[in-house]
Amino acid sequence: SGTLAGTRPLAGRTVVVTAGGTREALDPVRYLGNRSSGKQGVAVAEAALAAGASVTFIGGAMSVDPPAGTEVVRVESTQELHEAVLSHATGADALVMAAAVADFRPAEYAEAKIKKAQDGTNPVIHLERTPDVLADAVAARAAGQPLPGVIVGFGAETGDGTTSVLEFGAAKLARKGCEMLVVNQVGRDQVFGQDTTEVTMLFADGREPVAVAGDKTDVGVAIVTELAGLLDQPAR
Ligand code: CTP
Ligand code: CA
Repeated sequence: SGTLAGTRPLAGRTVVVTAGGTREALDPVRYLGNRSSGKQGVAVAEAALAAGASVTFIGGAMSVDPPAGTEVVRVESTQELHEAVLSHATGADALVMAAAVADFRPAEYAEAKIKKAQDGTNPVIHLERTPDVLADAVAARAAGQPLPGVIVGFGAETGDGTTSVLEFGAAKLARKGCEMLVVNQVGRDQVFGQDTTEVTMLFADGREPVAVAGDKTDVGVAIVTELAGLLDQPAR
């Protein structure tokens, strides 16, 4: 456990943090969502603030309040998150994608509340893929847009018989093209909304993985410490 206050390694830097879950509307009253608490993203934002950064906090649905002292942008759908990230991350130094983004959304939005059919038939909900916000930010940067040189993704993984959590994480890091991936193992006794967590940070530049366990607050500080180290690295 530690604090970055006093050292201010991110003084003069701008950091954009996304947190919470997206909600994909089905009709005016219903949505597909997830159980993200937003706690890890809030902890990263607070650690970045303590390290001296200007922080933009893009929050979806969360069980906690957005952190005081940040510029708060609220979003609901993946589409809104996509637009908010690409606009607010433009010109920023770092982007941390802690949001739990839906992979699928209803292919059709019903303008009127869906009613039960009188003939007893049940509705079928067709899904389509959402945009990949993180991958699109990396792609826009590669296309020359001034997006952050340090982009951090998160990945919740479960191992299987042949592939470990970290192997899946390394593959996801390569697929996403970001500088760092914060991997955590889900399933078994892992419960959403907890105050503690266990993660391993993986790096695209080949540096050794860094494992950290503890309060999400401590893990937020560890993530910001690594992020500051990447920012101090000369451009690759
Ligand atoms: N992410 C994103 N846009 C999406 C889905 C995910 O920006 N449509 C981001 C998340 O915020 C996270 C990272 O991508 O930082 C990895 O999310 P994850 O769900 O672990 O990865 P996916 O690529 O969606 O792969 P999977 O099939 O394992 O869910
Ligand atoms: Ca996903």
